[in-house]
Amino acid sequence: MTIGIGVLGYGYWGPNLVRNFWATPGCRVVAVGDPREIARKAAAETFPRIDTYADSDDLLARREVDAVVIATPISTHYSLACKALDHGKHVLIEKPMCQSSAQAEDLLARARRSQRVLMVDHTFLFTGAVQTIAGIIRSGELGRICYFDTMRVNLGLFQPDVNCLWDLAPHDLSIVDYLIDDEVVAIEATGYCHMNTGTPDMVFMTLHYASERVSHFNLSWMSPVKIRRMTIGGTNKMLIWDDLDQDQKIKIYDHGIELHAEEQRPLIVPQYRIGDIHSPRVPISEALAGVAEHFVEVIHGETLSIMDGSKGLRVVQLLETAQHQLDKSLTHIAAQRAAVAWRRSAMSA
Ligand SMILES: NC(=O)c1ccc[n+]([C@@H]2O[C@H](COP(=O)([O-])OP(=O)(O)OC[C@H]3O[C@@H](n4cnc5c(N)ncnc54)[C@H](O)[C@@H]3O)[C@@H](O)[C@H]2O)c1
Repeated sequence: MTIGIGVLGYGYWGPNLVRNFWATPGCRVVAVGDPREIARKAAAETFPRIDTYADSDDLLARREVDAVVIATPISTHYSLACKALDHGKHVLIEKPMCQSSAQAEDLLARARRSQRVLMVDHTFLFTGAVQTIAGIIRSGELGRICYFDTMRVNLGLFQPDVNCLWDLAPHDLSIVDYLIDDEVVAIEATGYCHMNTGTPDMVFMTLHYASERVSHFNLSWMSPVKIRRMTIGGTNKMLIWDDLDQDQKIKIYDHGIELHAEEQRPLIVPQYRIGDIHSPRVPISEALAGVAEHFVEVIHGETLSIMDGSKGLRVVQLLETAQHQLDKSLTHIAAQRAAVAWRRSAMSA
């Protein structure tokens, strides 16, 4: 059976989804919905055979639409996904799934009740780089994984309904969650609101895991250059993934530290091992094509999803806890600054 696809939201990301679903066997893009006339016009010009709708309800009422892809602002994800599931449609939501874990749990329950597929587009899981790294970690080549250290920074698109934590962190959280099976026991987060009060544009987040492992995330909309880098430290080897490096995306360093007790002195002496650097070939393909194909296969019952609603919920739970810590940190630092300002003004009076 050919799956009829409706795409809600034809802004920046929506056209990429339409293009990829258009090229995916086993499905047919039937309709695009967007309240902006200019977006509907753009969709109709590129894909004249697709119907366009200003009102999402009209798209959802189409019987030929079996599955809905939601690429709208995050604040609309939950209500649109509820409506789509209640209309009996399968749903693929853009990251992050929604704005709270309560909303995410409700969506999971609705999907269960209506026996429909609920998936979240954690696009990076379908990149050649993440698939290659997953294979390397599974092979044991790196040894025990001690840490992840990521940098996802650029001059950001400031959005009204999201801060840089909710915009950028879903990528890294979903990647790390895919790469290791471990439980987060504590989260720390701090940040800065340089451009808009109350909207952090720089966030530093640390996740601590049950098994002596740590992940650190540097997220920013305030960087003059774009950096997409993840360092993975293992007890045997270390790996750096630079997603913007077209030739050598992944480098594996046969570097390490071994500690030896000295016989004569009560000292532990580190010995550094500086070995070869190896760069495996990373398959190049558009990750969204993999996401589209996966969604269709999951709907057909051919495979289980690697990015189902429960994975989306997990990412939202981590974001929610991090946001709580971030709020506490912002309040604490604002109080410290106010105290310093008060002291300085009292001294100068
Ligand atoms: N997976 C990725 O790598 C990736 C990359 C970029 C964006 N995204 C996600 O895609 C989503 C959209 O981001 P964007 O950058 O395209 O935003 P955008 O603002 O450029 O586009 C959103 C579009 O949705 C439309 N819209 C608003 N309300 C609607 C409704 N009720 N029904 C139908 N359309 C509606 C808007 O008119 C707009 O055209 C976000 O969740 C974002 O996080 C994911």
